[in-house]
Amino acid sequence: MELLCIQSQEHPQLPIAELKAVMECEDIDADIDVITEGLVILKNISEENLIAYYEILTKRLGYTHEVHELIAKSNVDDLNEDVSKIEWCRYIDETFAVRVKRFHTEIDTVATERKVGSLILDNCDGIKVNLTKPKSLIRVVAFKNEIFVAIERIKLNKKHFEESKPHKRPFFYPGSMNPKLARCMVNLSRVKEGQLLLDPFCGTGGILIEAGLIGCKVVGSDIYWKMKNGTSINLDYYGIKDYRTFNLDVRELKMYEKVASVVTDPPYGISTSTGDIDGDDIFKEFFYAIYDNMRDDAYLCMASPHYVDLEPMVDEVGFEIVEQYGIKMHRSLTRIITVIRKKLD
Ligand SMILES: C[S@@+](CC[C@H](N)C(=O)[O-])C[C@H]1O[C@@H](n2cnc3c(N)ncnc32)[C@H](O)[C@@H]1O
Repeated sequence: MELLCIQSQEHPQLPIAELKAVMECEDIDADIDVITEGLVILKNISEENLIAYYEILTKRLGYTHEVHELIAKSNVDDLNEDVSKIEWCRYIDETFAVRVKRFHTEIDTVATERKVGSLILDNCDGIKVNLTKPKSLIRVVAFKNEIFVAIERIKLNKKHFEESKPHKRPFFYPGSMNPKLARCMVNLSRVKEGQLLLDPFCGTGGILIEAGLIGCKVVGSDIYWKMKNGTSINLDYYGIKDYRTFNLDVRELKMYEKVASVVTDPPYGISTSTGDIDGDDIFKEFFYAIYDNMRDDAYLCMASPHYVDLEPMVDEVGFEIVEQYGIKMHRSLTRIITVIRKKLD
């Protein structure tokens, strides 16, 4: 069986990297077929795993906007015939809507939605079209001449990323991370539900909120009491219960339990204070402080500015870089997202 994923196109690599990381840590056994940027099919999924995988993907992913079960593959010429062959009563529950999404094609969206809708109505009795609140959503995806016909079984909570923008939280402070990127970084750290994740520069708690929402136990610390307190307020607001927050300098960090994951956005630039630590030293101090607090199989995912070369620091402390991605912020700043783990010897 196959799942069709529609992904964000706001970054060329992060959506796929995030998907691969989740598949790796959740043991999702499927082949990835990238049709084009923003469109991915997961192939060769056994029937018994389909719903479990579907639930994990919709619960966790930030840069994937929709996940559907693929029903049929067709093309522009054979679409009508292929749609008519599908036993629609098996898929549709009372009301439905057909929505078309296009990638590199000019097919007429409205005409295709109407045509497919009428073929479905002809094929199954007792169902109706409902464009505003359909019980079943049929997603038709066109890529060049190819057409994929799919059904949405589980809705992804897209609204969460809109509604949880930092300025909408009870505690706000400038410099908080965009929630989609925070979710992606949590996923890149390969953490699983129930495991312990730490952000030692927690600020307003943006990363911890995303980790808490996918079921991790979270720990945050910050040098400023105001931020530690603000993180607790924000975590309470999102109903996250399994958390602890501390007010300390990263150099004093001594965890009561080694963590499975560290996800963080260390301070840099003139807008964030680093306590009394000079410039880039914050990164080296952080790597030294964090090493012994991490399990041997833990991953660390962090953000840093492009002008800081992490490689020699990471190497000196005993870590290695697994993957790195650049996000252009403006003309003179690219943010680098780096995934790191302990060197295996
Ligand atoms: C870029 S902000 C983190 C923002 C956070 N990801 C969020 O979503 O709000 C960096 C944080 O590191 C804290 N910080 C600065 N120096 C620190 C140090 N030496 N030890 C621990 N925290 C420190 C700052 O107070 C700030 O809240």
